[in-house]
Amino acid sequence: LVSQNTYLVGGELKEWKGEMAEVYSTISSTEEYEPTLLGTVPNLTENEALEALNAAYRAYDKGQGLWPTMRVADRISCMEEFAEQMKTKRGEVVKLLMWEIGKSLPDSEKEFDRTVEYIYDTIEDYKQMDRDSAKFEKNSGVHAHIRRGPLGVVLCLGPYNYPLNETFALLIPALIMGNTTVFKPAKHGVLLLSPLMEAFQNSFPEGVVNIIYGRGRVLATPIMKTGKVDVLALIGNSKSANAIQANHPYKNRLRLVLGLEAKNPGIVLPDADLDLAINECITGSTSFNGQRCTALKVLYVHEHIVDKFNKRFAERVDALKFGNPWEDSVKLTPLPEPGKPAYIQELIDDATKKGAKIINKKGGETTDNYIYPAVLYPVSKEMRVYKEEQFGPVIPIVSFKNIQEPLDDMAESNYGQQVSVFGSEVKTLAPLIDTLVNLVCRVNLNSAAQRGPDVYPFTGRKDSAVATLSVHDALRSFSIRTFVASKDTAYNNA
Ligand code: G3H
Repeated sequence: LVSQNTYLVGGELKEWKGEMAEVYSTISSTEEYEPTLLGTVPNLTENEALEALNAAYRAYDKGQGLWPTMRVADRISCMEEFAEQMKTKRGEVVKLLMWEIGKSLPDSEKEFDRTVEYIYDTIEDYKQMDRDSAKFEKNSGVHAHIRRGPLGVVLCLGPYNYPLNETFALLIPALIMGNTTVFKPAKHGVLLLSPLMEAFQNSFPEGVVNIIYGRGRVLATPIMKTGKVDVLALIGNSKSANAIQANHPYKNRLRLVLGLEAKNPGIVLPDADLDLAINECITGSTSFNGQRCTALKVLYVHEHIVDKFNKRFAERVDALKFGNPWEDSVKLTPLPEPGKPAYIQELIDDATKKGAKIINKKGGETTDNYIYPAVLYPVSKEMRVYKEEQFGPVIPIVSFKNIQEPLDDMAESNYGQQVSVFGSEVKTLAPLIDTLVNLVCRVNLNSAAQRGPDVYPFTGRKDSAVATLSVHDALRSFSIRTFVASKDTAYNNA
């Protein structure tokens, strides 16, 4: 059992003597299915939330604090120190990733390693950025010394599906740019921070990173109401993002860095290499049980090949092994959210009532906190699964006659993150790509949708994102470009 009874505020790990919240895993440790108690975390109140905010506010000190004015090399040293200490906690964090959110062992290890790499890559990119670079405008004789500056206090709210990597994809660039932060982890994937609390405390000056535990709205609402938050950084859903930002009294001052919903389509054209398309659509729609914002959440398959595609795709889905995250070759694992199977069942029932069939043998079978991926066909517009972001194991397949059909759906959709398109005729693909790039922000040719490599921009149109993440872009999202204009050669040469 992990008993996390402290929270980090103003550089101090404060002991919490109030109510604790229990953290359960939906992985059973007994023969009879029974969720496992993994540990406890503080259930903090508005008082501690404001205490954390004030610590971050003081540390930033309206831009005059130690952290925002610190030399670049010194901020980098703090970040390197943190990464070094974090590396020593790999085993503990990976184990908690498996138990808390049911992520498979290889994927949990990958999440940890990718996060450490993200920190080092961010440091490298930061060293290269335009800070102090000079631009000379000949006609006016003015030199502009460009400097990227911080924005202020960042409220950072991470997601459950990548509780380490995506949270750090917000936190690390925000910090290195000189912002100070209040960070509240997601409900699932919260204990895995325990092994890292001391690394945070030891590596950064007081008040720069503040970590609080409890219910999102209870803590975020009073923080936002103060008007002292300069950036809301959140990965989650639009409903929460809208509700949280609505509390800020000065809307124009609030910068948003949001990663939200997506309904990424996979489009399989008649000339596609079917083996390749099926492989990629399996990875795209079933990795981590479909709980990725980048997952393929609806497959459009051309009517000439849909029967062949469906038969082979359904067999491949049924061959995926379900089990505990640490077992060999396991691809499907228990879902961390206790209510998820019931929601997926609702989508299946709605679609089957309206004419779709489950075309794979195991589709919809339930066991413990799991529901086996159901492949639904034919799916049509009036079904909920056609539009709703399922974020779980159900895969709708739609057949199309003309490519304009999926394009029109994408244009009408509230989302616009990515698309995967499968086809071999360059002549057909080239003009199609010209349209697709106007509908989403990443077009994957003959490959599954994904976020990585982390140096590439990660964003979306419409309700899918605000601002851009990535090793490179996040540094820009969490900063503002300022410059010193000078004709004074003494300054220019300084
Ligand atoms: O949930 C959204 C994540 O950003 C997905 O990342 O494509 O690397 O799995 P991934």
